[in-house]
Amino acid sequence: MARIQITGGRRLSGTVEISGAKNAVLPILMAALLTEQPCRLSGVPHLRDVTTTMQLLGQMGVDISIGDRSQVSLDASGLDTDLAPYELVKTMRASILVLGPLLARNGSARVSLPGGCAIGARPVDLHLKGLAEMGADIRVEGGYIHARADRLKGARVVLDTVTVTGTENILMAATLAEGTTVIENAAQEPEVVDLAECLISMGAGISGHGSNTITVEGRERLAGYDYQVLPDRIEAGTFLVAAAMTGGCVRVVNVRPDTMDAVLDKLKQAGAEITCGEDSIELDMRGRRPRAVNITTAPYPGFPTDMQAQFTALNAIADGTGVVRETIFENRFMHVLELQRLGADMRVEGNTVIIRGVERLTGAPLMATDLRASACLLLAGLVAEGDTMVDRVYHIDRGYENIEEKFGQLGAKIQRLPAG
Ligand code: UD1
Repeated sequence: MARIQITGGRRLSGTVEISGAKNAVLPILMAALLTEQPCRLSGVPHLRDVTTTMQLLGQMGVDISIGDRSQVSLDASGLDTDLAPYELVKTMRASILVLGPLLARNGSARVSLPGGCAIGARPVDLHLKGLAEMGADIRVEGGYIHARADRLKGARVVLDTVTVTGTENILMAATLAEGTTVIENAAQEPEVVDLAECLISMGAGISGHGSNTITVEGRERLAGYDYQVLPDRIEAGTFLVAAAMTGGCVRVVNVRPDTMDAVLDKLKQAGAEITCGEDSIELDMRGRRPRAVNITTAPYPGFPTDMQAQFTALNAIADGTGVVRETIFENRFMHVLELQRLGADMRVEGNTVIIRGVERLTGAPLMATDLRASACLLLAGLVAEGDTMVDRVYHIDRGYENIEEKFGQLGAKIQRLPAG
């Protein structure tokens, strides 16, 4: 398996362009299933999860082509199966996003249950409950969800827990349902809003997206889309944390600063100077050591769980003691054991990790365990003395486009090594 080697100690400086948001691209690609008309999405990053989504849609008979400038064209008029097989779903939990649109357009869907994943149980019960409330007949058999509905009916769906993909599945299904659907306790993440905007461009009747109550007036059919995806706030945040940790000065461009308040507040608390433009953010930490910050993850607009590992790495070398509390996923501290191998002083107590910042980390071989954890290991490697080798980087390729090139551009000494 490919590995990434980093020699720590360089201050990052320069400008880096942020890619399209993985968590918006995936549902918007799936939304092509809602229409017989052609669709085109721009700003699609080269990521393993995007490839998996295209494979999944392709094997269902969706015609897909990749054009210039990161554009993907999709045509689901030839949809010829309602099956999302285990082989693909097990590699990417977000495959569950085919369920809503497939059921709504096709009247049936067979989607493998995703099963466990490294960061916790992550069930899909709320997706199923919501669709059942809209009149779908749902059975789980042989590891597959079998869903049927002649036509879904609008309903009031109250989500017990805020779920991002659950909200997206129900939202997509509701666009073609008969009547009005109201989703309460809906996720307010910018990626949900981006999906809603794309659906509206297809003719869907959606209001309230971005709040916790989304209302959807069902339509008989939807048109295709030609849409530019939102920039990735997690990728942008990861580069900003890297800049702060290395005492550097970095400008991220193609970003939406208004989607990053919680992360930018914490970076300011850590001592960074932040300057926001319309679509850029500059972080200046030149020569200073970050101060420890306390973090509690929460649904948007709270602090994103997908930035928790990166701030845990920042606290590892910060001045003072930081407390990081994870409230979304129960097992999202696997990076802690790896950071300890670099000399970090941290201890896990239930859903909390208490981190006493140390003056220096020292490089070591590390193992990536999940997507955001692997990003945090790279960040730690950037400041550790000597060489850090991060193994199993396929995790990072799921969500970060050209990560070693982008860090290299900012002056990091980083290279990808073939399996060995
Ligand atoms: C999405 C994001 C992921 C992010 C997460 C939380 C995508 C593709 N992935 O994942 O990057 O870390 O949001 O912001 O957008 N839950 C249930 N039952 C359900 C669904 C969820 O109990 O049916 C629970 C989960 O176990 C978890 C919480 O709800 O504790 C939030 O999970 P959810 O928002 O659904 O995460 P994903 O949509 O899978």
